[in-house]
Amino acid sequence: QKRIFSGIQPSGNLTLGNYLGALKRFVQKQDEGIETIYCLVDLHAITVWQDPEALRRQTREAAAAFIAAGIDPARSILFNQSQVSAHAEMGWLLNCVARMGWMNRMTQWKDKAGKNAEKQSLGLFAYPTLMAADILLYHATMVPVGEDQKQHVELTRDIAAKFNHDYKVDFFPSPAPLIEGAATRVMSLRDGSKKMSKSDPSDASRINMTDDADTIAKKFRKAVTDPEPLPETLEGLEGRAEARNLVNVYAALADISPEQVIAEFGGKGFGTFKPALADLAVSKLEPISTEMSRLMADPAEIDRILGVGAEKADAIAQPILAKTLDIMGMIRSR
Ligand code: TYM
Repeated sequence: QKRIFSGIQPSGNLTLGNYLGALKRFVQKQDEGIETIYCLVDLHAITVWQDPEALRRQTREAAAAFIAAGIDPARSILFNQSQVSAHAEMGWLLNCVARMGWMNRMTQWKDKAGKNAEKQSLGLFAYPTLMAADILLYHATMVPVGEDQKQHVELTRDIAAKFNHDYKVDFFPSPAPLIEGAATRVMSLRDGSKKMSKSDPSDASRINMTDDADTIAKKFRKAVTDPEPLPETLEGLEGRAEARNLVNVYAALADISPEQVIAEFGGKGFGTFKPALADLAVSKLEPISTEMSRLMADPAEIDRILGVGAEKADAIAQPILAKTLDIMGMIRSR
């Protein structure tokens, strides 16, 4: 039995990285007819301060992005995490399974906390167990994510294995990360060694899904690159992180391979390639952002869709949570 679960934090504008690394692939999985559950992880978002009104708006905007990109609430379950309380409850149970040492090794924690671990919320440290809870609560078998989430899915496997071992059960299936395509790690447009991120202070470092055509063209035009033309072969991209990134983005947007991009643009300069890339990005993103604005005009309808999704999610999650509590020795008498 295949079941897909994945999530996105509604902690800011969704980026081209979120779109290519996650959302676009979520739609593909749905269209392949696999059971798909997609979650706007608002409980994860508050591990760093979120203005309440902004969080509400961003959650609706992320929901609108999902629907505009092709997620059909009748075929996929789409909901926000906090409406299904089983996530928080399962998160606690798994906090008691995961080990401090495992959590300390999470590279995302190390990057985000930096030298300032003492000043971070406890929630930020426990973030990956809540993510494990999200996945295991549905007995999901596959988790489409970008490269940066791979370690968290591996941790989820370790937590599932330890639970099964400690309680001598075969209860939680081991979920597999699905990291596919040319754009599993879209890089910043300002620095080819940093990933494109909604939380980067520089807006020029990313393409937002809501950017208009002029902004998209300008950001690609100003994207940092070396001065050489594109190479004639893929190997020629070695050591050219920024060029490689733009080639990968083009490939993912056009649904072709990086080889095919090189076959078309090899030998051409960025003066030719960047405008072509901008036109392609606009042609893919503009219809989505137009549809997003249309959906955002009716926030009550978005909330209704999330509520219906939450009810469907809850119906799957509750029996799995109940069984987990039972396995762990909790009395269930009401
Ligand atoms: P988040 O919100 O940071 O990102 C959402 C998804 O987008 C992918 N992604 C990228 N892919 C390619 N290039 C990039 N530059 C890029 N930036 C982000 C991420 O890999 C992710 O797939 N912890 C998760 C959310 C989460 C989750 C889950 C995911 C919570 N529970 C359960 C899967 C299953 C996160 O912070 O993603």
